[in-house]
Amino acid sequence: MKLTLEEITKDIVDVPALPQVTNDIMRLTEDPDSTVQDIERIVMKDQSLTARILRLANSAYYGYPRRISTISEASVLLGFQAIRSITLTASVNGLLVKEVKGYGLEENELWKQSLSTAIVSRHIAKKVKYAKVDKVYVAGLLRDIGKVIMSYYLTEHFNKIMELIKKEGVDFLEAEEKILGFNHGQVGAKVAKKWNLPDELIEAIAYHHTPEKATIDFKLTSIIHVADAIVMTMGIGLGIDGMIYNCSQKALEVLGIDSNMLEQLISETADLLCDEDAFHI
Ligand SMILES: [Fe+2]
Repeated sequence: MKLTLEEITKDIVDVPALPQVTNDIMRLTEDPDSTVQDIERIVMKDQSLTARILRLANSAYYGYPRRISTISEASVLLGFQAIRSITLTASVNGLLVKEVKGYGLEENELWKQSLSTAIVSRHIAKKVKYAKVDKVYVAGLLRDIGKVIMSYYLTEHFNKIMELIKKEGVDFLEAEEKILGFNHGQVGAKVAKKWNLPDELIEAIAYHHTPEKATIDFKLTSIIHVADAIVMTMGIGLGIDGMIYNCSQKALEVLGIDSNMLEQLISETADLLCDEDAFHI
């Protein structure tokens, strides 16, 4: 039984919209006329968001030596772009933190993988001098959001998928597509569209396992792909599909990453992800 477009559409409708406060922050942080006070006023409306932003702002990842205790301090010290990524991270936490049975991911594992991919993506962007680090972070964070929806159907057809992988030697993504009619990238892209994210982010989510298909921003999609491959290879919250993807040679080429640099990136990733605290917001 393949999924129909209607079934997928129904499930996408059920995905909660981003909270109003998140949309407001996304808009404000893009507007050059916004002030720190504007941002603070909006964020402070939501107590739990305020607490999560401060927690993330104080995580070792941002490496700020002094304790950041207000939203306005966070906005000034870390910048609007960081506030935007932190707000989005805090908003999707609830969706990503749940168990994703169909992919063999326990509670917290998809979240950990997603945040790791976001952090590694941003690190790669800086290394290869790709300017839109904030976009890269968000795409890395959301690249597997489609799994949240696919999980339910996957549980039902899991044996068929594994059989196909064994018999035809296809990768996990292709097997999803052949058995279910959609892959988790395509489904994730539909969620991103529902959230009105920009086209290049939708593309990066859709093609994070097949970056050669990207036409809007091949580099952005390639960064997410390589970061995803590194995180999966390191076995962070692995799940059942972790080892059944290949890393695209073309993606590495366009980013100018040779085997030495890749090795270096993998060893730097371990240091980057040592702040366990940041994963529990
Ligand atoms: Fe994926």
